[in-house]
Amino acid sequence: MKIDILTLFPNMFEGFIHESIIKRAIDKGLVDINLINIRDFTLLKNGQVDDTPYGGGSGMVLMCEPVVRAIESVKTDDALVYLMSPQGRTFNDNLAEIIYKSTKHLILVCGHYEGFDERIKNFVDGEISIGDYVLTGGEIPAMAIADCLTRFIPGVIDQESFQNESFKDNLLDYPVYTKPREFRGLKVPEVLLSGDHKKIDEYRKSEQIRITKEKRPDLMK
Ligand SMILES: C[S@@+](CC[C@H](N)C(=O)[O-])C[C@H]1O[C@@H](n2cnc3c(N)ncnc32)[C@H](O)[C@@H]1O
Repeated sequence: MKIDILTLFPNMFEGFIHESIIKRAIDKGLVDINLINIRDFTLLKNGQVDDTPYGGGSGMVLMCEPVVRAIESVKTDDALVYLMSPQGRTFNDNLAEIIYKSTKHLILVCGHYEGFDERIKNFVDGEISIGDYVLTGGEIPAMAIADCLTRFIPGVIDQESFQNESFKDNLLDYPVYTKPREFRGLKVPEVLLSGDHKKIDEYRKSEQIRITKEKRPDLMK
């Protein structure tokens, strides 16, 4: 899968692409994450990419020209292009799966400041939000989406653990424990030490149902 991220702050992605599971996925060639600096596409002198809003008001607005030219520089026929926006469709496991199955080339456009010139929306497939709150920029949302989609790629993480993770089959994940068997009087459930895999599976499934009912009953509707 190829993920192009258009941003004014590519350095913010240093840790994201150079550490842990994402780094390994890139090194193995399972995902190709490219950072494109929107500023490289302005036609204005001194690298200007934003300006004050028509009609007045606070903040700076990202201009059409550099953003659209940056999108066009990477766009392919089968690419899906999304603006990062608090006004977009809320990202969740369902939407992640839909996007993963729809394309192998994703383009994520990070806003900053007051946001995008409204006309940019004519050049993209949609807007995605990562939740009902406002961040300073689209870089963290783009990392969240790129990270989540990378986990869908076979070989990035163990497929068994991927299939049992929270939100699969509308359930949350079961609780997990590791050594020691007892910590400050808190014991690991006996069934997990029994070696009986049928019983362990039954226990885990019942825990998934219990936890989902308790924490996220909305998922079970
Ligand atoms: C300060 S925000 C702009 C908010 C915009 N004025 C509004 O109220 O809808 C700057 C940029 O951060 C990104 N952003 C902020 N919150 C986000 C969220 N919850 N999900 C996705 N992107 C977000 C977007 O790219 C946005 O253009």
